[in-house]
Amino acid sequence: MIQSQRSDFFELGVNTNQNEYSVETVPVKGKIPEWLTGNYIRNGPGMYNLPKRRMNHWFDAMGALHSFNIQNGQVGYHCRYIECESYKHVKETGELKFSEFATDPCRSLFKKIQSYVFPTLPNMTDNPKINVAKIGEKFMALGETPMQVEFDIQTLKAVGVQEVVPGAFAYKTTAHPHFDNGHAYNLVVKFGMQSHYRIYDVSKPGGKPLASIPVSKPAYLHGFGMSKKYFIIAAGPLVVVPLQLLFWKRPYIENHKWLPNEGGMIWVIDKSNGKTVAQFETDPFFSFHHVNAWEEGDELVMDLNAYDDASIVEKYYLKELEKPGNKLPFGKLKRYRLNLRTRKHSHTTVSDACIELPRIDYERYNTNGNYGFTYGVSLHPSHAEGFYNSIVKINVKTGDNSYWNEDGCFPGEPVFVARPGSRNDEDGVLLSIVLDSKKRNSFLLVLDAVTMDEIARATVPEAIVYGFHAEFFKNQ
Ligand SMILES: [Fe+2]
Repeated sequence: MIQSQRSDFFELGVNTNQNEYSVETVPVKGKIPEWLTGNYIRNGPGMYNLPKRRMNHWFDAMGALHSFNIQNGQVGYHCRYIECESYKHVKETGELKFSEFATDPCRSLFKKIQSYVFPTLPNMTDNPKINVAKIGEKFMALGETPMQVEFDIQTLKAVGVQEVVPGAFAYKTTAHPHFDNGHAYNLVVKFGMQSHYRIYDVSKPGGKPLASIPVSKPAYLHGFGMSKKYFIIAAGPLVVVPLQLLFWKRPYIENHKWLPNEGGMIWVIDKSNGKTVAQFETDPFFSFHHVNAWEEGDELVMDLNAYDDASIVEKYYLKELEKPGNKLPFGKLKRYRLNLRTRKHSHTTVSDACIELPRIDYERYNTNGNYGFTYGVSLHPSHAEGFYNSIVKINVKTGDNSYWNEDGCFPGEPVFVARPGSRNDEDGVLLSIVLDSKKRNSFLLVLDAVTMDEIARATVPEAIVYGFHAEFFKNQ
């Protein structure tokens, strides 16, 4: 039975500031597989309490990168804040200069420049705290504004800023690009009197959009889907009227409204020519993360980590997370079947398990319907209060699930790393940074993805603030 540790979690995992840290080797319990060599790098919030202001939401903090360097069974750990303009300003003045997801800088009415998505360069927030990716030869820290920060994989030092859409303003993007055949694609939302959803090849910055869909009330979109032939934009009814953003008096996300009567909309876009081949009106849903998508005859199948409504966004406010007995809505793995010939669609819930921050064996199985598993953070059924206290493995064919959990522990996103010569998408390990609220430290957990049993853990002396997304970059 997992005991409630929410208040300890809140203190260590959210309501704090990360220390920068560097240590060549940390103690390892168990045996890390010899084949596992490379850098596990995780992005996420680092500083919630600015000298003159406290952030409001899980998605607001100044970003920090964590690196676990794994070689010959030894593990080094390194943490560094992302040295973007937003962070430098905080360090110099103690003030927030740019708007974040749900926290605005203190400004006079006349200085209310909309820096999250309506930036007047250079007043654009460049705090890329959500994800990491290798795009071309560059290691990038990714956020939701079009300014992404390149970093050095060894030192974690910022190298420079790269704009997804150079010179753009009134744009928002996602921190979840898709990769295919040497290309990296991302969704961009352009706000204006006529707003658009656009797809760009971000491996070639400066190019024209591959697709552009006009939309009157753009939705908050955290990601998009991709099959072999199609891009998929799945928009729930958490939407904004762009004029409202222009005159906003509230932080970015609070200008959005949940309009369930408008339902959801799914666009299917042909990758080869950018044309919309089908559009599906659906029941309302909310989602941060796509899981996988593939074609089956006339059908396009889309697996989505989805909620019935957008209340999860509210539940991630710090004032909600600190409430005793806080209950997060369950995100669930939903499967949409979109018939491109008949234009009919249906969806099912693959598993009733709570899942968020879902991962698959992307390299081998993205766009492939033969995939067998997704892994994510979860609330264990025996203790579904507080914050994510488990790692869940869902068999996407049977809906069966299994868990890893430990008393007082809060695991972050599990990243699957395939064993060399692996047979399938459970033949490997899962890597996750786990916050141990009892010992008040954190460890990199190495799990056997078949059995969900622990293989090893590498413990760092300090608690690591609970984060978002990670990637394992194998040594070449
Ligand atoms: Fe995400």
